[in-house]
Amino acid sequence: MAKKLFIQTYGCQMNVHDSARMADVLAPLGYAPTATVEDADLVILNTCHIREKAAEKVYSELGRLRRLKPGGARGPTIAVAGCVAQAEGEEILRRAPHVDLVVGPQTYHRLPHMLAEVASRAGAAIDTDFPADSKFDALPAPHAAGPSAFLTVQEGCDKFCAFCVVPYTRGAEVSRRAAAVIAEARILVEGGVREITLLGQNVNAYHGAEAGLAGLIRALAEIDGLARIRYTTSHPRDMSDDLIRVHAEVEKLMPWLHLPVQSGSDSVLRLMNRRHDAATYRRIVERLRGARPDIALSSDFIVGHPGETEDDFRATLALVEEIGFAQAYSFKYSPRPGTPAAEMDDQVPEPVKAERLARVQALVATQQSEFNRGFIDRIVPVLFDRPGRMAGQLGGRSPHMQAVHVDAAGEAAAHIGAIVPVRIVAAHAISLAGRIEPAASGTARAASA
Ligand code: 5AD
Ligand code: SF4
Repeated sequence: MAKKLFIQTYGCQMNVHDSARMADVLAPLGYAPTATVEDADLVILNTCHIREKAAEKVYSELGRLRRLKPGGARGPTIAVAGCVAQAEGEEILRRAPHVDLVVGPQTYHRLPHMLAEVASRAGAAIDTDFPADSKFDALPAPHAAGPSAFLTVQEGCDKFCAFCVVPYTRGAEVSRRAAAVIAEARILVEGGVREITLLGQNVNAYHGAEAGLAGLIRALAEIDGLARIRYTTSHPRDMSDDLIRVHAEVEKLMPWLHLPVQSGSDSVLRLMNRRHDAATYRRIVERLRGARPDIALSSDFIVGHPGETEDDFRATLALVEEIGFAQAYSFKYSPRPGTPAAEMDDQVPEPVKAERLARVQALVATQQSEFNRGFIDRIVPVLFDRPGRMAGQLGGRSPHMQAVHVDAAGEAAAHIGAIVPVRIVAAHAISLAGRIEPAASGTARAASA
């Protein structure tokens, strides 16, 4: 009989992608997705450890799941995957004894084996290795689930920013071989994918091709039918001249870059062990804009890192003012056990963090809506990838990652997977509304990015 699988995903795009791959691994065992935990045979929490709040959410969700196993009844198999699994391992079983299985981000290709282990004995199964065999070789071939796909090319991080758990939870930086990546990209494109986002915790440190990420992007751009390429997340230190040049050369590379700077203060950047200063970041942005004048930037910011003074924080605001971001995520610094910043003096009090967060978020929100308003009355190529909320509505993405909605009435379904010129008629805080350009609708499929 078919078994039901419920996966709850927390955290970054890498986790979203890993969840999809876990479903792929489990499909041959007869697991089909379900939208409710109540009728699931297997519940997987794919967890995030980046900030305390994210990690604690997992334990409260596990607390709620206990009701599925009243009085120690068998109930569904409960699995914890992802970065909390990697970081806490056995500790999870101590705090939540109803958990059956703990699997790290590098070993989920072994899930079938682990499930058999759980079924055959009373105890729980744990696997949080960093195995020498690559999970990618063991995973089933990917399949296209819509016109836009993620493709993992690199995992892990060797940067050791003082605040960050990633080097500990995801391990050392590893790149997949270019040939394997290109083969996977071809399979995706044959399945109807038009846009590929290359994923990595430190994607621009990719070294699986001779010319690094730049070389990989040039090679992928040769694939017919692939219209759009993106990559995320990048570190300023790895923004090589060659990679900047690719933004000028490769039309398919979208004019959008998530390049986290974290802070605009040199002394905080030093404490963060970012190994670059604010001037270097400004110069990189200048050169990117020289290479691709329409490029828009996105960043992450941490406010209230240990040692951050009001003046340091103002330097961050000044950098945001000067650069102008199309979008940004900002976070209150959250001390993570085992990281150097958690041990530093001069921890910033919570109310100060909250106040700084509100200030930077207000500034970024203003910039984002200004950026979006600038598109009103312009025609942008939109890759439609989903039906909208209302009948006849369609949702897609602009080259600049903006969510765009249109009313396509009778033609709606035909446009999914197509890149269609859309006239923007209204800009909202985080999305745009538009109208399909009438003259172009017949040639929609031929339009390029
Ligand atoms: N506290 C707050 N934010 C953090 N990030 C990483 N570690 C922490 C932490 N300890 C943020 C950084 C990173 C993003 C993914 O999460 O801004 O770029
Ligand atoms: Fe964390 Fe820094 Fe590595 Fe990014 S570069 S994953 S912030 S240690």
